[in-house]
Amino acid sequence: MIQSPLNYTGGKFKLLPQILPLFPKNVDRFFDFFCGGCNVGINVDCKENIFIDRDEHLIYLYQTFQHLEKKVVFEWIYDIIAEYRLSLVSRDGYKFYGCDSSVGLGAYNRDAFNRLREDFNNCAVIDYRYYVMMYVIIVHAFNNQIRFNSAGEFNLPVGKRDFNSRMHSKLSAFIDRIHSTSCKFICSDFRQFDTATLTQNDFVYADPPYLITCAAYNENGGWNDCDEHDLLKFLDSIHVAGIRFALSNVLSSKGNRNQILSAWLDRNANSYKVIHLKHSYANSNYHKADKISASDEVLVVNYDVSKGGDAT
Ligand SMILES: C[S@@+](CC[C@H](N)C(=O)[O-])C[C@H]1O[C@@H](n2cnc3c(N)ncnc32)[C@H](O)[C@@H]1O
Repeated sequence: MIQSPLNYTGGKFKLLPQILPLFPKNVDRFFDFFCGGCNVGINVDCKENIFIDRDEHLIYLYQTFQHLEKKVVFEWIYDIIAEYRLSLVSRDGYKFYGCDSSVGLGAYNRDAFNRLREDFNNCAVIDYRYYVMMYVIIVHAFNNQIRFNSAGEFNLPVGKRDFNSRMHSKLSAFIDRIHSTSCKFICSDFRQFDTATLTQNDFVYADPPYLITCAAYNENGGWNDCDEHDLLKFLDSIHVAGIRFALSNVLSSKGNRNQILSAWLDRNANSYKVIHLKHSYANSNYHKADKISASDEVLVVNYDVSKGGDAT
């Protein structure tokens, strides 16, 4: 399976072995609404993958990877690393930079990263090179996150890692996949999407920010009760039109319950089915005792999973 080249917060990669088998098999177009790191859509086999997210930086970055030759993307990445004298552990090892893997490369890369970030923020021309520069920044930024302030400036500090061989392989496989399949990357709020263009052979997957858990994109009211209601109405409308959908969400987490989602599921108990997923805690700090109650991650579907996706 292909993993996002962005280490995206909230990425679904670890849950794919549970989610993918629940998707219908006979799909013409797979719509990955809230595509984020693209972990889900990129691994779905169908005639066309359509990735939608309202984050324009993300979408233009994917379009850059789609339109440039892979060799050019990598040439530019390594050019930028060399120009700013960022570390390259895959070539030199940690010792060369006077640090080890647990401490990371933050101290070594800080000045170079700040210069790169400043040049990027002052860039007058927004072209493919600009987005490759942004990718190099994300790779070297704190937790590989993407955050712009209200003035449109990238404002995260340097992180611990560099463009290591894992990142290289993930990006390489991702570009190969988007070059060899039919993909579209669309920047849009889900509410702006014209559902009349959907047909019954299409499949809609939605992985919105979760109302009751706190991730970077959910800070400062990034996703609120109104968004949640609008999304559930959106899914109801496509259900009425006979389109199949699957929604990822968290029904409860650390004692909090998503009451809006819960009430919607109760109202639609005859039409929608809730599948409770098993936890994936590979990198979490939870103590064993907390794991069971920590969160109830679900997939909600409006089709019969046992019949390979026929509408219910
Ligand atoms: C949980 S992440 C998706 C993760 C993705 N499924 C993955 O596996 O990498 C949620 C995404 O929703 C996007 N988003 C938030 N509000 C949105 C909206 N109103 N319309 C479209 N996308 C939105 C965010 O930019 C973010 O990328």
